[in-house]
Amino acid sequence: MKKILLVYWPEQGNVENVAKKFLNQFSNEQLDLFSVADVKPETLASYDYWIVGGSTSGSHVWKDADDSFRWWDFFKMLDGIDFSNKKIALFGLGDQILYPHHFVDGLSIMKEEFEKRNARIYGKWPINGYKFSDSEGFEGEYFFGLALDEDQQKELTETRITNWVSQLKKEFELE
Ligand SMILES: Cc1cc2nc3c(=O)[nH]c(=O)nc-3n(C[C@H](O)[C@H](O)[C@H](O)COP(=O)(O)O)c2cc1C
Repeated sequence: MKKILLVYWPEQGNVENVAKKFLNQFSNEQLDLFSVADVKPETLASYDYWIVGGSTSGSHVWKDADDSFRWWDFFKMLDGIDFSNKKIALFGLGDQILYPHHFVDGLSIMKEEFEKRNARIYGKWPINGYKFSDSEGFEGEYFFGLALDEDQQKELTETRITNWVSQLKKEFELE
């Protein structure tokens, strides 16, 4: 069985709740969930299929590392990983009404950090069905990964996850 790693951050909020919903989409023990705080380089290296998710909480939070912010530690861990046989997909949470000019911007940071290490990103997702003015998280008609909005479109999350995972299973060639 091809095992999948799901890494998320932060803990205890919408991202963690959403991360747990992915468990329903895979057969028993196919998906392993790790918070960024608990993952180690050897764990990362041992999986070929990764789903990586986080929230956008303002560019200052992404840029200024503080004790509660773990993404930069995580990206540093990627330096020693050989991505030639790995497939990566991203999901990002945001709020399209309160932050219409920066909706799920964080997706672009994740994409950039992976791509500069030669990782290939799968699972782009149509911008259709969202209302926002601008975002660094998309190009053309597609976000760089699954965009979720627990603040304004919570009722769509479950279906979006189901549809995205079924798309991913094909792109990852899991079925
Ligand atoms: C201080 C703050 C800044 C935020 N900035 C953005 C933003 O720039 N773009 C966006 O799409 N959402 C933004 N959000 C919304 C969050 O991404 C959204 O509420 C998400 O579901 C939070 O997930 P979490 O509880 O796991 O952190 C912001 C939220 C907060 C509290």
